[in-house]
Amino acid sequence: MMKIGGVRIDGKTVLAPMCSVTTLPFRILCKRYGAALVFTEMISADAGSYVYYDQKHGFNTTVEEKPVVSQIFGSDPYKLANCAYKMEEMKADIIDINMGCPSLKLSRSNAGAMILKDEKLVADIISSVSSTVSCPVTAKIRMGINSNKDTVKIAKIIEQAGASAITVHARTMKQKYMGVADWDMIKKVKDAVSIPVIGNGDVFSSSDAKRMIDITGCDLVMIGRKAIGNPFIFQQCEHYFKTGEILSEPTLNEKFEAYKTLCSLMEQYLTYKPDLKDYRINACWFTKHVKGGRDARVVMARCKSKEDIDEVINEFCED
Ligand SMILES: Cc1cc2nc3c(=O)[nH]c(=O)nc-3n(C[C@H](O)[C@H](O)[C@H](O)COP(=O)(O)O)c2cc1C
Repeated sequence: MMKIGGVRIDGKTVLAPMCSVTTLPFRILCKRYGAALVFTEMISADAGSYVYYDQKHGFNTTVEEKPVVSQIFGSDPYKLANCAYKMEEMKADIIDINMGCPSLKLSRSNAGAMILKDEKLVADIISSVSSTVSCPVTAKIRMGINSNKDTVKIAKIIEQAGASAITVHARTMKQKYMGVADWDMIKKVKDAVSIPVIGNGDVFSSSDAKRMIDITGCDLVMIGRKAIGNPFIFQQCEHYFKTGEILSEPTLNEKFEAYKTLCSLMEQYLTYKPDLKDYRINACWFTKHVKGGRDARVVMARCKSKEDIDEVINEFCED
């Protein structure tokens, strides 16, 4: 068992923050399948406090997913601190600052990975936020804008400014998702700081997760893309860590049970009524990497209701 600040984390796997994916229902589902810690999608600190409660992209939480990390983005230390304060009031357990997003939308306002260009801003943001809230503050970084020469330096600045943990997505901003994540750099950060380090990038299986811990010594392993439509990855990793045994892939029925559970969590917890698009996109994600999944997705693209989608799924399971 380890802690981030005073927050206890039982297990080693972390659901990565992912826009339009890591909604409260999906976070609860991942938690049920063993994720030790879950991140929200990024929430804007620049747009004004009404957005924090926005129907689609705001923050809401419930006991079952705890502890939860609320990830916020922006470039103004004051606005970020203000947003973090609101998130803490709304029962976030940890506040994470996005210093890794390479998207143009964030770069234009000097947010996301662009913050890494300015060491003083990195320090100002972390100290402003951590002196405003009483919960732990963390940062999720890329290795740098175009090179990894300052990754360790930045990590130390983040630690010194008051962060309680750091996530390293071991690619540069320019790389986006290209190339292979540089796990050696995660090790270098781990060796240089005393706060917990969350390793991130290219974990697609339980053996990858174990290998990342063995190579880097990171405290927790964050999983993004492989978790989309696949909460089973957390069960597989946690089981492997405990027993050394590799679990078999979920059956079709198990996959669709998880999808159906997600649908009821969506109906229970989304702050808006889920529409056809919400069901369809999840049904598509849950049929990825499944034999015959592509054909099912073609049929689902023409479905006019959730019931039609369920029917496709049921037929698919009977095959
Ligand atoms: C659809 C999608 C949305 C993402 N949104 C965010 C985000 O809101 N905040 C963030 O810090 N990273 C975001 N990321 C990056 C992931 O958190 C993670 O760092 C990245 O996918 C690398 O991990 P992986 O190799 O396990 O996928 C997103 C990634 C994907 C695929």
